[in-house]
Amino acid sequence: MEWTREKRYLPYSKWDAETLLDLQAQAANSPYQMHYHLHPTSGLVNDPNGFSFFNGAYHVFYQSYPFGAVHGLKSWVHFKSTDLVHWINLGLAVKPDTMADSHGAYSGSAKEINDKLFLMYTGNYRDENWVRTPYQIGAWMDKNGKVSDKTVLFKNPDHITEHFRDPQIIEENGIYYAILGAQDKAEKHGHIDVWKSLDLKDWEEVGFLDLGSEPMGYMIECPNIVKVDGKVVVIFCPQGLDKRIADYDDIYPDMYIIADDIDWENHKLINPSPLHNLDEGFDVYATQAFNAPDGTAYAISWVGLPDTTYPTDDENWANCLSQVKKLTIRDGQLIQTPVPSMKTLRRGEEKVPNKLIQTNAGGQYELELTIAANQMGTLHLAANSDLSQSLQVKFDTTKGQLTLDRKQAGKQVAVDYGTSRTLTLPKQEAVKLNIFVDHSLVEIFVNDGEQVLTGRFFTEPQDQLITFDQETEHEGTFWKMETIL
Ligand code: FRU
Repeated sequence: MEWTREKRYLPYSKWDAETLLDLQAQAANSPYQMHYHLHPTSGLVNDPNGFSFFNGAYHVFYQSYPFGAVHGLKSWVHFKSTDLVHWINLGLAVKPDTMADSHGAYSGSAKEINDKLFLMYTGNYRDENWVRTPYQIGAWMDKNGKVSDKTVLFKNPDHITEHFRDPQIIEENGIYYAILGAQDKAEKHGHIDVWKSLDLKDWEEVGFLDLGSEPMGYMIECPNIVKVDGKVVVIFCPQGLDKRIADYDDIYPDMYIIADDIDWENHKLINPSPLHNLDEGFDVYATQAFNAPDGTAYAISWVGLPDTTYPTDDENWANCLSQVKKLTIRDGQLIQTPVPSMKTLRRGEEKVPNKLIQTNAGGQYELELTIAANQMGTLHLAANSDLSQSLQVKFDTTKGQLTLDRKQAGKQVAVDYGTSRTLTLPKQEAVKLNIFVDHSLVEIFVNDGEQVLTGRFFTEPQDQLITFDQETEHEGTFWKMETIL
């Protein structure tokens, strides 16, 4: 089936119900489907949007194209939770149903204001010559989840190209600020553009956030600012960033800066750190973070990359979201940990002291391992019986190295960007790993969230052996994880 432009942008009402049901069945019945992470009910999902707390519950939405594994006409699908782990799907919430978002309700954010949830997002509009205008739209969601009063707030100013999107709404001392990803017309570099408003109606541009003298690639997508333990953390995706400025492996990176503070009026970070990768694995992009009413910072990521195909494209669905990660700062370093309620999904605790950990892990589990100092070897996940196929976690706790290798993990993804990711550990020290597997998704939290390795993998679904390749001094616990969706 060929995905022509006409087909990708066909209004949802023109698709018949039977096609949608078939697509839903394909997504639901796939052995690669996730069961305790947010995932598509059909078609493709990408960025998390509108991550917020409103009316006594957490809310998150995701970008969705329900009719295939392509980036077509986007909308927002709404999920609600009281513990950031058990989510209820409330269905389509922001539809591409006005002139300003006629070619997609693109990414944005949300904030509770006066008993309603204010949504701020980019309306993707294209004219008959396919020339794009990025409209920044405000809308209101009531307590019943009904979205209304969509209003265009502003569009790209003269000095910014059509690449101007993904607003995050923030309130600081009674002033509303919005930060957006932008590309300037003069040099075609990526920026975070700051806007402000007193009433959410009249908006004025404050200027580009000062990110230093080096160009931040050709475009920044999905910028977020969040407060973490008294610091300001800026999370963003600088597309086309020169690797001499900050190294990364994926097609596009998801990075962060920690600063002591932000001076909004002068659009400056106070004492900013260098750029760091948010995730040391594969496939993490468009992370969205927010501060809950008690100040806690939470983040959730798209596990999927732009301009990348995945094996489930053949089944007409693609991608998922990460679990929610709590952000803290320890010794000046950003720490990402599972939220405490993740433990409520654990079932059937089993100590795993031996080389052989599970013969049939079942695809949906958490494995907590502490590997002693001075051990070297490979942990095979999702392995077949002769270990010729598996997702490999290679460790060397003498030199201090950990590698996630998906070269022999079945169907391959984005091999041009490398099949393994390596991170550095403290030398000659034990390492603690919390490994979450959800069928074709792995998230490894290293040393209580000092580093995280996330990635998709597509081994044969029946290959469910977990074993070390040799005797390894370790302590371990295995739990099956409950299905939430
Ligand atoms: C990032 C992104 C955003 C855009 C959205 C459209 O993945 O390209 O910049 O708003 O996806 O789905």
